[in-house]
Amino acid sequence: MFSLVPSKSKNGNGKSSEYLIEVRDVVKTFKTAAGPFTALKNVSLRVNRGEFVAVIGKSGSGKSTLLNMITGIDHPSAGEVYIDHTMVHDMGESKLARWRGKNLGIVFQFFQLLPTLTLAENIMLPMDFCGVYTPRERKRRAAELLDMVGLADQADKLPSAVSGGQQQRAAIARALANDPPILVADEPTGNLDSKTAEDVFTLFETLANQGKTIVMVTHDADKAKRVQRAVVVSDGEIIEEYLARTFSSLTTDQLIRATRRLAPARHEPGSIIVQEGSTADNFYLITRGSAEVVLKGADGSDIIVSSLHGGQYFGEIALLRGAERSATVRAGAAGVEVMALDKETFNSLMNESDSTRDAIDEVADRRELELVTLEKQNGKH
Ligand SMILES: Nc1ncnc2c1ncn2[C@@H]1O[C@H](COP(=O)(O)OP(=O)(O)OP(=O)(O)O)[C@@H](O)[C@H]1O
Ligand SMILES: [Mg+2]
Repeated sequence: MFSLVPSKSKNGNGKSSEYLIEVRDVVKTFKTAAGPFTALKNVSLRVNRGEFVAVIGKSGSGKSTLLNMITGIDHPSAGEVYIDHTMVHDMGESKLARWRGKNLGIVFQFFQLLPTLTLAENIMLPMDFCGVYTPRERKRRAAELLDMVGLADQADKLPSAVSGGQQQRAAIARALANDPPILVADEPTGNLDSKTAEDVFTLFETLANQGKTIVMVTHDADKAKRVQRAVVVSDGEIIEEYLARTFSSLTTDQLIRATRRLAPARHEPGSIIVQEGSTADNFYLITRGSAEVVLKGADGSDIIVSSLHGGQYFGEIALLRGAERSATVRAGAAGVEVMALDKETFNSLMNESDSTRDAIDEVADRRELELVTLEKQNGKH
């Protein structure tokens, strides 16, 4: 169980991050002939160690720009990027190249193998550059990696002598050369036929299962569904994932509008977020940690109704019913991080989407029944 308390990035001002990858309030503005163009508008993304994250969105929405911020291939105009405590946004080019070689494997849509080198030599290139392995080890490791991606018998061929799928697998082996903890891939299956794309995607799944942290841009919605998290980029903004999951029938525009209104907050263990009997002002989504729903028993003691975790929400009953808070909600033993959505935005979303309202209403009904039953059992009615 993680603790939310000793975080160095507690107020968003610390010079470190508790996440393996943290993109914090990043703005990227390009100078163009037609004037400045903002491709990323205050984007934040946090990735935990071992996660497989798909980045999806329309062409031109800012996916590659976001990935370039993570790899340090390009630098933000404002904001910060941390990878495993390293400030990527602040690193000079020569230091960055060395750091990248050890920490990140990068795979592109067009495989970008050097055409005059064999597959094995291509894979040894980043090893030569970083000096992690001795020359003897490099050969052995290249052979192992080629074996892992199913190309053991192609080691001495030039890229032009193998298929596109094989080239991409070699490119993945090259990205893994120095055993980096993180793989970043920009549409790695975008230039492959569907069968080959499936093989390459399966390889990424295998690597994720082996503990690699993967951030992958993909146009393929079906593949995005197969990974743990799908981050939607729309016109340079990221839709809050928990919001998208909770309100799955809202449109991208509605989700973007709601994301802009979300207010993140961290509550220390045991602190009260919502007080029974008070007037409702917000809807809350839990993004990390847990919260307890509590009722006061007839004898004044606390009755714990339920425990809520990341991805679950609270505060909907009073907002939907126009009533006072029906229970108290407090942060769990490790604290909780929530995103608060103001009453007005919540209500307008409910009015705009009947299916969303129905889904939330159903949960509210079930929870209300549970509360009433518990109150009866405890002699409050
Ligand atoms: N170097 C640059 N100079 C000017 N504008 C740029 C530059 N790089 C990207 N852009 C613009 O920023 C926006 C986002 O581009 P980006 O390449 O990140 O989109 P994308 O989501 O990766 O699209 P695709 O799915 O087509 O690869 C686009 O409108 C693009 O034209
Ligand atoms: Mg792109």
